[in-house]
Amino acid sequence: MFRSIKEKLTIAFGSEQEKRQARRGRVKRHVKRAGLHLYQDHMLWSSQPYYVKAKGRVKGVQGIPDPRCFVLQSCLRSISEVQGDVAECGVRQGRSTLFMLTADLGKRHYHLFDSFEGLSKPSEEDRDGKGNVHWAAGDLGTDEAVARKNLSGFDHITFHVGWIPDTLPAVADKKFAFVHIDVDLYEPTRDALAFFYERTVKGGMIVCDDYGSAKCPGARKAFDEFFSGRKETIIELPTGQALVSKR
Ligand SMILES: C[S@@+](CC[C@H](N)C(=O)[O-])C[C@H]1O[C@@H](n2cnc3c(N)ncnc32)[C@H](O)[C@@H]1O
Repeated sequence: MFRSIKEKLTIAFGSEQEKRQARRGRVKRHVKRAGLHLYQDHMLWSSQPYYVKAKGRVKGVQGIPDPRCFVLQSCLRSISEVQGDVAECGVRQGRSTLFMLTADLGKRHYHLFDSFEGLSKPSEEDRDGKGNVHWAAGDLGTDEAVARKNLSGFDHITFHVGWIPDTLPAVADKKFAFVHIDVDLYEPTRDALAFFYERTVKGGMIVCDDYGSAKCPGARKAFDEFFSGRKETIIELPTGQALVSKR
């Protein structure tokens, strides 16, 4: 009770810093009570200059959450010496793409694959343990012009507009250092992975955005099936992403 009155007074009359701290304390308690976890403000990742720069560029751009975008940035920076292009399957408005382009230390070409008509049709493999499918064909559709506008100013990108896997042969002769697969469903994840794995160089990385999402069981299945019996192992992150380093 006493804490609550003190907190209210601080929020009403405190300095800006005290107000911020008090608000954060209140949110933290609510989040904890709900059994959730609030990212800690003493973590350094969100003050990395390349992350801050990207945040300034993505205002109003819809897409995947910031911590996942930071993981992409960090992975890319860790392989700056690895030669090869970047592929992204699932661009939507270009949010993750902007984060990657802003952080990349290498001079790489970016190949961006999207139907811009949203998701393809889910298959039986996209049913979860309770028999539910969380997506429908056309979900997450976006105007191609919006993505192009958000990514204007970068001259080392190529859009491959259309359905995966039909659009993949256009890059059959390329080698890749980094591949981001974010298409939510079993079939396009399976097809993209099979295609790009062969073309990812040793030391390169493949990231699946959807591996840990209960809404995307098909994406997890595609990765688990593909890497079963292969020498690479899947590293699962609390962000829901999965990382694979090509050996
Ligand atoms: C989750 S969104 C991608 C999000 C994006 N990476 C971001 O940063 O917000 C999934 C995207 O995959 C695209 N997509 C899904 N299935 C596809 C397929 N079979 N072929 C081409 N694009 C597909 C959708 O159009 C959608 O833009």
